[in-house]
Amino acid sequence: MNYVTIQHEDDVAVLTIDRQEKLNALDRQVVEEIGQALLELESEGPRAIIVTGAGERAFIAGADIRAMSMMEPLEAKRFSEIGHAAMALLDRSPIPTIAAVNGYALGGGCEVALACDIRIAAENATFGFPEVGLGILPGMGGTQRLPRLIGPALAKELIFTGRRISAGEAREIGLVNRVVGEGEALNAARELTAEISANGPLAVRHSKAAANRSLDVDLISGLEYEADQFALLFATEDAREGMNAFGEKRKPEFEGR
Ligand code: COA
Repeated sequence: MNYVTIQHEDDVAVLTIDRQEKLNALDRQVVEEIGQALLELESEGPRAIIVTGAGERAFIAGADIRAMSMMEPLEAKRFSEIGHAAMALLDRSPIPTIAAVNGYALGGGCEVALACDIRIAAENATFGFPEVGLGILPGMGGTQRLPRLIGPALAKELIFTGRRISAGEAREIGLVNRVVGEGEALNAARELTAEISANGPLAVRHSKAAANRSLDVDLISGLEYEADQFALLFATEDAREGMNAFGEKRKPEFEGR
């Protein structure tokens, strides 16, 4: 892979998009490499995946405009579909995914962040969907995930205007979970993954699946799914260990079984 690196830090994987000369802009190769890296990680099974951009300036400054300017409609559709598949590997992955947004997160960059479960932004991060200003629209999930996250009215305002917003504004509207100092996003994401990793890995995975389901189905169906996932965890050693450890007043040691 040329533009994506994976660093293993204990049981957490840090996936870095590294195309700094173009502010980590996403052309087809970069998107395919993100997908490939996520597929590999899914089989390796780290406890959490952090996604970030290389360098100080950008998380991802969007899809590669130069490459898109040469696309015919069918190529554009394929590009969008490849993007959807890669983004699905983030939000449908059983492993929690956290975006550490360290600078510009525009267009496709915002869409990568949106596909993660949790977003942490450095105070110099900038968010926005400039696509309509280019005569196109967010094609890697932005029109679908943004309304689900921040509600349709605010999402439409951001998408229709293409306006850029600061990390602080992104926090106010619920686009990011937390804002930290410049240069601190990755460390803050690491701290968060440490909190997550202390818990039962299967419990976290099934919680993610259940929370995801809430976005797709009606409440009754979602609750049925929750009950099934709840029951399933009672068949795991982790659940015995977690509940016994409480009774024995000690920290649980989860094995992911
Ligand atoms: N696609 C392709 N190339 C991009 C890019 C993108 N989305 N974003 C940045 N780049 C390239 C620039 O063309 C430039 O390359 P060059 O040196 O070969 O000309 C390089 O990255 C550095 O960007 P530059 O524009 O010089 O930096 P800046 O600090 O002046 O501006 C931005 C930073 C992010 C404000 C500006 O690059 C920008 O508006 N990018 C496009 C954002 C966008 O519309 N994204 C959504 C696309 S759907």
